[in-house]
Amino acid sequence: MSLPGALTASSFAVLLLLVLSTWPTCHATHNITAILAARRDMSEFSRLLTMTGLADEINERNTITVLAVDDADMAPLKARHLSREALRHVLSLHVLVDYYDHDKLHRLPGGSADVSTLFQASGDAPGSAGMVEISERRGGSVAFVPQDAGDDARATSVLFVKPIHEEPYNIAVLQVGAVMSSPAAEAPSSPETSAPISRHKNATDVAPKTKKGTGSADADADADAPSADDGDDEREDRAKKNGAIGAAPGRLSLALAFLLAIKIVALV
Ligand SMILES: *[C@@H]1O[C@H](CO)[C@@H](O)[C@H](O)[C@H]1NC(C)=O
Ligand SMILES: *[C@@H]1O[C@H](CO)[C@@H](O)[C@H](O)[C@H]1NC(C)=O
Repeated sequence: MSLPGALTASSFAVLLLLVLSTWPTCHATHNITAILAARRDMSEFSRLLTMTGLADEINERNTITVLAVDDADMAPLKARHLSREALRHVLSLHVLVDYYDHDKLHRLPGGSADVSTLFQASGDAPGSAGMVEISERRGGSVAFVPQDAGDDARATSVLFVKPIHEEPYNIAVLQVGAVMSSPAAEAPSSPETSAPISRHKNATDVAPKTKKGTGSADADADADAPSADDGDDEREDRAKKNGAIGAAPGRLSLALAFLLAIKIVALV
C-alpha cells in the first residue's frame, strides 16, 4: 500500500501541476486589488472582492469592466449582512464581461446595451438575472440596471460616476454611485448552486445523496463522501481511470481527485 500510495501521490502531484500549468492560459496582466489600492475610499469594495474570490477571477480575465463603489456607498450593502455566497453574487453583478470605458458608454448603439456579468457566467443566475442593461439617459448620464429588476426595490439602477482605470480592451474600472442588487443575486443559495463540484455533476444526481438538511456545507461534504450507495457510474469510471480515489485519505483530496479526474477526462 505504501509504495503504490507514494506513487499515486507523486503522480497525482505531477498531474496537478500539469493541469494547473495548462489551465486556461492567462494573458491578463492586471491586478484589480492593485488598481483599487490607488483609491483609499474603495478599500471595502476591494476587500470584499478578495474575500469572495472575485478578485482572482477578475485578474484571470480579459475584456472586463468592474463597476466599483466607494466605501460610503457600500454601507447599505454591509448593513444587509448577506451570506458570503449572496455577497459574491451581488458583487459579481458588478463585473461586466465586456470592455466599457467612458467613451464607449457614451457611444452605445441605440443608446443602450445588454451586458453579461460574472453572475451570469457563474451559472448561478436564473434566466437573464445575470445580465445588466446599460443605458444613456437624457442629459448624458449613464445608468446600469440588473435585468431581473422587476418591481423589486432591491433591484436598483445605479449611475455612472467616473472612470477610475482604463486599459483598452483589457480592463476598465468605473465608479458607480451605489451597489446594484437583485432578488436573484440575494436569494439564499441552494445546495446545488453553492457546491462548486455540483457544476461538474449531473445536478439531479446530487439531490438524493444529500441526506442532511439544507446546509450547503453538509450537502457539499455528503456529495463528496465515499459512501458507495446508489451507483454513480460516471464517478466510478473516473475513479477507475484515476486510481487515486480509493487511496485518497480525506474528503478534501477526494474532492480534488474528482475535479482532477474530470479535467483529465475533458483533456483526453
Ligand atoms: C495584487 O496586488 C496586491 C496589492 O498590491 C498584492 O497584494 C497581490 O499579491 C497582487 N496579486 C497578484 C496576483 O499579483
Ligand atoms: C441527469 O440525470 C437524469 C436522471 O438520472 C437524466 O435523466 C438526465 O438525462 C441527466 N442529465 C445529464 C445532463 O446527464
